[in-house]
Amino acid sequence: MKTFYITTPIYYVNDVPHIGHAYTTIAADVLARYWRKKIGEKDVFFLTGTDENAQKNVESAAEHDMDTQQFIDMNAKKFEGAFAALHISNDMFMRTTAPFHKESVDVFMQKLHDAGALKEGVYEGLYCTGCEDFYLEKDLKDGLCPIHGTKPEIVKEKNWFFRLSEYLDKVEHVIGSGEMEVAPETKKSETLGLIKELKKLGEKADFSVTRERATWGVDFVVDPTQKVYVWVEALQNYISALGYPDGERFKKFWPADVHLMAKDILKFHAVYWPAMLMAAGVELPKKIFAHGFFSLNGKKMSKSLGNVIDPLAMVEKFGVDATRYLLLSQFPFGNDGDIQEERFAEKFNADLANGLGNLLSRTTNLIEKNLGGSVERKEVDGGLFKKSSSYIESLSFDEALKSIWQAIAEANAYFDEAKPWALAKEDNAEAKEKLKNVLSEVCARLEEIARAVTPFMPDIGEKIAVLVTADKIVKAEPLFPRIESKNI
Ligand code: MSP
Repeated sequence: MKTFYITTPIYYVNDVPHIGHAYTTIAADVLARYWRKKIGEKDVFFLTGTDENAQKNVESAAEHDMDTQQFIDMNAKKFEGAFAALHISNDMFMRTTAPFHKESVDVFMQKLHDAGALKEGVYEGLYCTGCEDFYLEKDLKDGLCPIHGTKPEIVKEKNWFFRLSEYLDKVEHVIGSGEMEVAPETKKSETLGLIKELKKLGEKADFSVTRERATWGVDFVVDPTQKVYVWVEALQNYISALGYPDGERFKKFWPADVHLMAKDILKFHAVYWPAMLMAAGVELPKKIFAHGFFSLNGKKMSKSLGNVIDPLAMVEKFGVDATRYLLLSQFPFGNDGDIQEERFAEKFNADLANGLGNLLSRTTNLIEKNLGGSVERKEVDGGLFKKSSSYIESLSFDEALKSIWQAIAEANAYFDEAKPWALAKEDNAEAKEKLKNVLSEVCARLEEIARAVTPFMPDIGEKIAVLVTADKIVKAEPLFPRIESKNI
């Protein structure tokens, strides 16, 4: 039986959600909705959630004068709220402070230990708490973290290490052979390049999987003086959510069909995670897809720059479905891009108000006024649906949207050429026959457009399908009233 398991990263809760988090989660939602229609509700599992065991939560909570767990609960709620507002249809919202996650992590860590994949050692190096990652001197920018611009701490402590060096050949093989797909192709070659570099390091590639100084997180089952490194335990959310080691859901849905994320966290997913799974004797995910990273108006989106867009503000201004459309149609899914805030209103007016909205309102208007609300139902062509489906299956979301908007443009052009409004004014049987034909053709096209757009715009798609297939068609209310102001 075909099942489909899709995950997003679990997001850090030391901050509030922004449109970067929304972007990945909407994309995953499109896939989940698409597959539910194709194989059935119960056979799809869509996971998103929050990464709650990072040490930086303790610091952020203290800055807010709050208890750490309370602070985490508050921000996790904001993520859940934002995703609900975006009509994300996740089957579960994972939170890694949940006790069942910790229990599952214990089992997995014990397996790694029993398999001889862990060793004790001393770690000395530079650590950035913002990234929750170690840096080499050469990777710093003027001695500062290249992402956060902060000075990394010098850390020396006893840690447990994962023997990554012993698994690199195997990871290289499964990626190279396509047994575990890393996509798009550019990310596959980058990963293989990184593995080559890591192999040169020998045992130095082994990375520490516990923290001695951490005060927040999951105790390491073998040595509770240590906490499990947050990244190591966060990756395990993908299996703990399903009830690893022996939950029914785990048996049904693992291995994941797609782990979706941006390229910033590809190393963890495409190198560390498969190596750990191999060591613990768990099957590998089928595909790891890293989409691009976007900047906003040419700048990195960050709280300190004050240019973070709140997904809720976007939903308030444009509506849910338009927000989903505007975010996913910006640039090719696998590439980096720049999002220009001003372009949102322009694109809203051009593609949604003038494109899809206008086609629907003028068609339904003429049908109500001239044909008493009824048209003969034509067979839908099916070509567009096939095309957009295959784009969705290959995660080319922008291409799928392009093909749908091309069909909308063609339907509008057909409407303009056939001039049904003029036919309606002619008082003869031939013109009336023509009018009926033209409008029933446009309705069939709209029905197919609605079906193709539904995973992206679930409410609008459904609404259009109902409107154009009704026994008595009435003029549609404007779906996308034009927007004048450019700022969100
Ligand atoms: N907690 C880790 C992930 C652990 S997964 C086991 C983490 N969290 S995060 O909050 O920083 O989220 C990073 C992810 O958010 C990116 O991989 C991407 O999915 C999404 N994005 C955040 N900003 C983004 C952009 N500016 N552009 C594209 N995606 C963005 O890393």
